[in-house]
Amino acid sequence: MKTAVLPPTEAALLQAAEWLQRGQLVAFPTETVYGLGANALDEAAVGRIFAAKGRPSSNPLILHVPDMAAAEPLCQVSPTARLLMEAFCPGPLTLLLPKKPVIPAVVNGGLSSVAIRIPAHPVAQSLLKACGLPIAAPSANTSGRPSPTTAQHVLADLEGKLPLILDGGPCALGLESTVVDLTADPPSVLRPGGVTPEMLLSVLPQVQVADSVLRPLREGETALSPGMMYRHYAPQAKLVLVQGTEEHVRARCQALQAQAADQGIPARILAFAEHLPLYDPAARPVCIGSLQQPETVAQSLFARLRQMDAEGAQLLLCEVMEPTGLGLAIMNRLRRAASFLVEDADQPANGELP
Ligand code: TXA
Ligand code: MG
Repeated sequence: MKTAVLPPTEAALLQAAEWLQRGQLVAFPTETVYGLGANALDEAAVGRIFAAKGRPSSNPLILHVPDMAAAEPLCQVSPTARLLMEAFCPGPLTLLLPKKPVIPAVVNGGLSSVAIRIPAHPVAQSLLKACGLPIAAPSANTSGRPSPTTAQHVLADLEGKLPLILDGGPCALGLESTVVDLTADPPSVLRPGGVTPEMLLSVLPQVQVADSVLRPLREGETALSPGMMYRHYAPQAKLVLVQGTEEHVRARCQALQAQAADQGIPARILAFAEHLPLYDPAARPVCIGSLQQPETVAQSLFARLRQMDAEGAQLLLCEVMEPTGLGLAIMNRLRRAASFLVEDADQPANGELP
């Protein structure tokens, strides 16, 4: 199948709506990441999403709708859901709510809940209105790879597997939506994102953050959100997070990079803008955004990981930040992308590459 990449003109949007109505896949921009969409009420179409991504069928999908009214036929919209939607939607928030019978089991892995999101991106909004269908859409990457924040990322992963990618330029946020389970009491953040726990607490009296957000699942533990079971967001290069006091982190990154070079392994250092000038210029650290402006880190993170793969890096040594505010979402993605591999620069080096 030939994959067209088109700017979101009125004609392209009509074409996209038609592909969706005919059971085909269309990738489209949202304010978080690009989505790989299909008609959520068409089982065969939804099946194509799993096939194209190589996604385990047990990992449920998010349903995208243009507004709260369009969510009503799909799920039970509780008063708490209403409150959150009024405060943060359209926007980077996904709510888990009790599903209604119309949802095919293939969409939500046969669970009793369904994930609902009202995206803010004008192209996503126009597409939802043009096709008049709820759109099931995961991130438009090959399963396990960093999520796509440009149409080119989608093309790199999925060319030939869908007829059309709507190109709306780079995504503003760069990390996937916050997933909040409203079937839990108190509501529970299963995946942190642009709507931070602090923001949720400005509307709700109580919110918990699932503790699996920052650690691997324990042996035998079941994932509250099936997506948390799988290695995620990962570049082809081995990613290692380096933590500790600032000078130690810098010294350890440079030492490990040099050690890797001795073994013929191309290694790159991923550092915050504020720290770049402190590195030895020969280390050629790569900027992952500003510590003072975490939104710049969120925006560029997945693109940087993809860029490092394209440049042939085999080892990535990455600085870390505090997991508060947007930092929680950033560290959640980084730890999973690194398969929880962390080097503590305050401990003596053991002489081996991590
Ligand atoms: O920002 C986003 O949310 C993007 C854009 C395209 O909207 N979509 C996205 O979808 O990130 P995906 O499929 O890559 O991630 C959805 C996450 C997965 O971790 C999945 O397991 C979880 O939401 N999820 C979906 N439905 C669920 C349910 N009923 N119960 C528990 N977890 C659910
Ligand atoms: Mg995903």
